[in-house]
Amino acid sequence: MNKANFAPAILLLACTPCFSAQNEQKPLLADPPGRTTLSLDGAWQSIVDPYETGIGGHFYENRKPANKSALVEYDFDKSPVLKVPGDWNSQRSDLLFYEGAVWYKKSFLWTKHPGKRVFLYFGAANYSARVYLNGKELGTHEGGYTPFDFEVTDALADGDNFVVVEVNNTRRADGVPGINTDWWNYGGLTRDVSLIEVPEIFIENFGVRLARGSQSQIEAWAQLNSAAGAKQGQRVTLEIPEARVTQTAETDANGRAEFKFSAKVELWSPENPKLYALTLRSGEDSVSDEAGFRTVEVQGTKILLNGKPIFLRGMSMHDEAAFRGGRAFSEADEKTLFGWAKELGCNFLRLAHYPHNENAPRLADKMGILLWEEIPVYWGISWENPATLASAEEQMRELIARDHNRASVILWSLSNETPNTPQRLEFLTKFAAFTREQDPTRLITSALNTARRSQPGVMSLDDPVGEFLDVLGINEYIGWYYGAPETADGLKWNIKWEKPVIMSEFGAGAVAGYHADAETRFSEEYQVNVYEHQLPMLKAMPMLAGMSPWVLMDFRSPRRLLPGVQDYWNRKGLVSDRGEKKKAFFVLQKFYREKAAQ
Ligand code: GCU
Repeated sequence: MNKANFAPAILLLACTPCFSAQNEQKPLLADPPGRTTLSLDGAWQSIVDPYETGIGGHFYENRKPANKSALVEYDFDKSPVLKVPGDWNSQRSDLLFYEGAVWYKKSFLWTKHPGKRVFLYFGAANYSARVYLNGKELGTHEGGYTPFDFEVTDALADGDNFVVVEVNNTRRADGVPGINTDWWNYGGLTRDVSLIEVPEIFIENFGVRLARGSQSQIEAWAQLNSAAGAKQGQRVTLEIPEARVTQTAETDANGRAEFKFSAKVELWSPENPKLYALTLRSGEDSVSDEAGFRTVEVQGTKILLNGKPIFLRGMSMHDEAAFRGGRAFSEADEKTLFGWAKELGCNFLRLAHYPHNENAPRLADKMGILLWEEIPVYWGISWENPATLASAEEQMRELIARDHNRASVILWSLSNETPNTPQRLEFLTKFAAFTREQDPTRLITSALNTARRSQPGVMSLDDPVGEFLDVLGINEYIGWYYGAPETADGLKWNIKWEKPVIMSEFGAGAVAGYHADAETRFSEEYQVNVYEHQLPMLKAMPMLAGMSPWVLMDFRSPRRLLPGVQDYWNRKGLVSDRGEKKKAFFVLQKFYREKAAQ
């Protein structure tokens, strides 16, 4: 790669997250608890449509034959139901491997209120969604793990209504992720669906946080949305009662109000996950939420939380429910997973490889667990396709719009294990610049598997994307895909940049309950052996600021085919999908206890 066209580190723009100045992009409502007016969760009629006949068949009109001679070749009301939220693969065994289109229909009653606006909000739909209300197309969305919404004020009827959604999880070469992943491609309306009623002028989104480098200066903003276009001079009030804060500001020409003031607040940290209740009011609208105040930055090879170096004792995890399987979507699902992480002694979780459901960052705020969140730029994608970059950016915009008020979230990850090519470098350079512009207050990282043995006993990393990352994530599978467990002994790491490193993946497969000697693959003893050789190596890395071994819990994968061992499960979990803790769980627990005591 010729250095000349390599863009230097991104300029840090001193603006607060800017998702929408009276939104040229579609407004994405902040959906804190309590905003929902009518939940559409529950049973939806569904039609599995492998040959995508639904559009031609006018499924979105929910037609009924007008008379006995009329030809209508579908009938939602006689079709099986699927639960929402939920993926279809784990709900019906005949759909376990299904990738394609499924049509969902839900009928509901609505009472229109004059002077009110209404939005139809989806927590997520994997992978693409085409949405209709009362037969009228509202629009489409792409990206399986982030929220989206449509204004339905005019499309809604007073009384009977029906919403129809075509969801399609067909993998696409120009998609994000692309064709190849090591996780199950769970399809469907995988998260909550709701109707949100708001006044004519409402608070579309807002942000509250400590100013960069300060522990008492607070910066906040509120973006108003008015049907008649941005309104200047609108009063917005911010209240944080426990911090004795009541502040008022006026909107600018873009309908945006900014607050800057000082306040005495307890800092949020894993040891003290202090959250403050807050309310924003403007005109007839008010929105309430909870937020924690903390600062995060890097200094040399250290990550500083509230100005102090912190070591991230972490685990990587997928957003898959324990025991019942399938896509996780509820606080209960997350509580099980986070509970195991806490038991391990974690203060950090890498939410791989895509945005997890919103209960995860909200629970992390409450439980005091720092988070790495990631957009599924995973392995190979269409680097040179502008639509692919636009999709990655849109997913990042939606993720940041959803989670920017979560104190627990400290890292935005751009990608995982991508090839060291000029096309990829150009893509990630642009993607990093976009992400910094969306949120200049958090750290940017990527999980890199480009470290190489540069000489006997030395692993080196000089991947050019390291230039513009704040924190370097390294995936290595010494002892599993590369060498023997002992290969890690005394291994030195040579990193081109003076930056914090997180060992974002290492690990080994083991079937829970299968015991043998330490050389036998897939035995619990082999997994222990890998960890026991990894941990001393990691301990000896001066630039190591954290780790997130692969992986908290066994998870479904279409790439894991070994009969009687994998059976479509990746077995690198420290806990099985049935909650069995493997021996290596306790090896890592001991290590984290010692680390926490230091
Ligand atoms: C990769 C990848 C994971 C995968 C893991 C594995 O590093 O990032 O998604 O599951 O290795 O091979 O188990």
